[in-house]
Amino acid sequence: MNKVSLLVFALVFAGSTETCLAQRLPAEARHGMVASASATASEIGVDVMRRGGNAIDAAVATGFALAVTYPRAGNIGGGGFMVVRMADGRTAAIDFREVAPSRATSDMYLDANGEVVAGRSTVGRLAVGVPGTVAGLALALERYGSGRLSWRELVEPARRLAAEGFPVTPALARDLRASAKLLSEFEYSHRIFLRGGNPYEAGERFVQAELGRTLGRIAEDGPREFYEGETAAMLAADMARHGGLITLDDLRAYRPVERDVLRGAYRGYEISTMPPPSSGGIALLQMLGMIEPFDVASMGHDSAAKLHLLAEVMRRAFRDRAEFPGDPDFVSVPVEGLLARDYLRDRMADFDPARAATSVGFPAGDPVARGTSAAAYPRSGHAHESSETTHFSIVDAEGNAVACTYTLNGLFGSGVTAEGTGILLNNEMDDFTAKVGVPNLFGLIQGEANAIAPGKRPLSSMTPTIVAKDDRVYLVTGSPGGPTIINTVLQVISNVIDHGMSITQAVDAPRMHHQWMPDVINHEPFLTSRDSAELLRARGHVLAPRKLYPNDPEAAARYWGDAESILVDAATGLRLGANDLRSPDSATAGY
Ligand code: DON
Repeated sequence: MNKVSLLVFALVFAGSTETCLAQRLPAEARHGMVASASATASEIGVDVMRRGGNAIDAAVATGFALAVTYPRAGNIGGGGFMVVRMADGRTAAIDFREVAPSRATSDMYLDANGEVVAGRSTVGRLAVGVPGTVAGLALALERYGSGRLSWRELVEPARRLAAEGFPVTPALARDLRASAKLLSEFEYSHRIFLRGGNPYEAGERFVQAELGRTLGRIAEDGPREFYEGETAAMLAADMARHGGLITLDDLRAYRPVERDVLRGAYRGYEISTMPPPSSGGIALLQMLGMIEPFDVASMGHDSAAKLHLLAEVMRRAFRDRAEFPGDPDFVSVPVEGLLARDYLRDRMADFDPARAATSVGFPAGDPVARGTSAAAYPRSGHAHESSETTHFSIVDAEGNAVACTYTLNGLFGSGVTAEGTGILLNNEMDDFTAKVGVPNLFGLIQGEANAIAPGKRPLSSMTPTIVAKDDRVYLVTGSPGGPTIINTVLQVISNVIDHGMSITQAVDAPRMHHQWMPDVINHEPFLTSRDSAELLRARGHVLAPRKLYPNDPEAAARYWGDAESILVDAATGLRLGANDLRSPDSATAGY
């Protein structure tokens, strides 16, 4: 059975008293492991570690490789976040989120009547934020790389893949076909990704000559080439020619930021996750803090009582998300208040185990009153020169770990490939609040704190996370999926810590999602038994299962964000990996 049919088998036929968990064993490695959405990219990362590189070196090579083999989300035309935990306990959050161009304005997606213009923030050049990936990977390497492999050596495997091509997988062929409408709107995307209207079939070789040359320049001239060299000039010229906003000055001005990780604890485990401009770390730690007083383990992972509890903490965390977080360089985010134990306890004071709350009129909390300083969330003090997303997890032989989630935002981003570069560009501007109260691509209602301003980073849900126990890395995880990301990470962590699942079971288990608005529990099929579903409805929940078509691998494969995860067994030190079968080309690789 191939991976997809295994998944379908697992979802359809397994499952009895507790819902189905595919009974597959984790992959094992003694030294280093990569879990990513592309088998080729995972192999490239492991090869770096075999050659003496550490997890951060491997992350750079894997990140560049995904930009070639996984174009729906892997990128150098987007941005993201990397959480690093070194074996000596140092942690860092590398923020390489895109920023709004200097000519961006708060009402740029509104018409003369103040209404949001459909598509303007999602398709085409106006949707593009200044990309951060190349600078972010470079900053991570400079700060935490082993120094044993050069930048050039780490970019080279991706360059070669682009220049020489690689065999198209069935999933990539499907992705390209499925996005043909968007990609065919833009000349260079149409030529490169749809071969001028003759879409690639599985098994054919996909060569990206321009991208290969771009990666060659970045490899040879260094990361600033993207922001100041020929690549930058081509990006700016493309924007100028087609009414985009990004200028050469915007590219030159782009800087990634090293921030302190957001740190929390859950049942004795230490959690390092992403601070603002992600909302993910705050919401994750809020939800963990709200469920910690409950005996979640004895509820069982799929009982109505447990799922009700999750829905209610999700409602509260997403309500706060709509109100408080934004780019900490622009707005003051009351992080301490939002995470204060007494704040979270009060937030749950009206929790009724027998009754769902109602989202309409559900108030945000008052975290500022909890003695939070008005200062923006602190940077770590270093000044530095310099529906699409994918997550990869890496642990090396020394115990250094990387959780990296990066994105183009929507599938194939804005659809635009900049002339001459082969670079597919993001539509991250849609993550800003186009207008308060109007839902974005992911149905998220957002607030003033996330309004558009030049140089500002849009609020994100990406939640790369590293869990440590007794000062050692224990679990590395993260996921794509817009707002579902945060809830996916919550469920993977709780599945492992509360329910004692193996890493594969924790990743495979069906997941649920509530985001305050709309007031429904979205969930994968077979989340829970019919009896428990009835009990949830009796509490007042509306269940909105995603449909599954057992014989349609496309539907199964597209299912929910893939949580590419690694767990380190405390007793043996083995790296135990779970690629997520929701993403058909995903794989762990280890040695
Ligand atoms: O940063 C964010 O939260 C979004 N741009 C992520 C988008 C995403 O995960 C789409 N993936 N399926």
